[in-house]
Amino acid sequence: MGGRVIVTGGAGYIGAHVSVALLNAGHEILVIDNYANSSPVALDRIEEITGRTIARLEANLADAEDRARIVSAVRDFNADSAIHLAGLKAVGESVAEPMRYYQINIDATFTLLEAMAAADAKRLVFSSSATVYGDINKSPIDESGGLRPTNPYGRTKLFIETILTDHAAADPDFQVANLRYFNPVGAHPSGRIGEDPNGPPNNLFPYIAQVAVGRREKLNVFGNDYPTTDGTGVRDYIHVVDLADGHVRALDHLNSAPGVVTLNLGTGEGYSVLEAVAAFKRASNREIPFEFAPRRDGDVATMFANPKAAAQTLGWKTTRSLDQMCADHWNWQQQNPNGYGD
Ligand code: UFG
Repeated sequence: MGGRVIVTGGAGYIGAHVSVALLNAGHEILVIDNYANSSPVALDRIEEITGRTIARLEANLADAEDRARIVSAVRDFNADSAIHLAGLKAVGESVAEPMRYYQINIDATFTLLEAMAAADAKRLVFSSSATVYGDINKSPIDESGGLRPTNPYGRTKLFIETILTDHAAADPDFQVANLRYFNPVGAHPSGRIGEDPNGPPNNLFPYIAQVAVGRREKLNVFGNDYPTTDGTGVRDYIHVVDLADGHVRALDHLNSAPGVVTLNLGTGEGYSVLEAVAAFKRASNREIPFEFAPRRDGDVATMFANPKAAAQTLGWKTTRSLDQMCADHWNWQQQNPNGYGD
């Protein structure tokens, strides 16, 4: 039976794909977003893809002035659960402006918890990140791995996991799934929704895609002297549609499972930067000029998930290959060379 789900950050890259998956699974959703790093056009396109209607609230979860409005909207919507993706997510920016990151990411969570309490909603799926593992240098990483995030952004994720765990411990009816994402890439196969970063992309795939489409001249490959097969960094890229399905499964799981689960969402396979570039080149049939640049501060050589816990707990695993990720990412980029701004 469909639930009534709040999706914070539902117009963002991952949120939009989660919203599609929820609607396709028969849930009703209320998206709360302030469009700080997203566009309401994404919501129009989700309605077009799914043939369903989205309830929307434009509001800032971290702004005290919006709090009362959010609480009453969530109560009026009669929400029974939430998927919490709203927050700031740029590593470098978080180092430069740590207080802003702590205030926004943590206050947004408090507002959501207050609104959930007003609606008596008891199930929460949180968008965490493998960044909570920090400078761990041993892959595959399982959920018991060391937790040493190396920047304020990563620490906000870990703090929020901890806050939610404490909250659930104090209320036996409250259930939480902390989902630690590896590297989400790709796009919905329709090419109607995808990643549309503000300004120059920080992450590899959107950067490659903008080079392929001719918006940027060349990729800088950060480091070619890592202890990996070809010297470039290795990551666990996961198709955003697989990732979105994991959220729906996690929400279903919370229907029957008390307490807190913390799960990696990854494929369990690592690919180097050069392997990713080669795969994107095949998928797009475009040249991807690149040059080697110094290592980026805070990067580790290799990071990929042990995804077994999610498989056992949720009966979920990824099905989409790196080639599929590249094909879908390229399809989105080619149809929307300037993102939602077109
Ligand atoms: N890379 C490049 N050139 C670029 C961008 C990235 O060579 O222009 C390399 C990186 O050095 C790394 C790989 O591509 O080896 C992947 O980098 P991303 O920035 O795409 O992803 P990260 O693994 O660094 O980032 C992820 C999440 C962040 C999180 C971070 C913590 O996307 O949200 O892990 O380490 F904070």
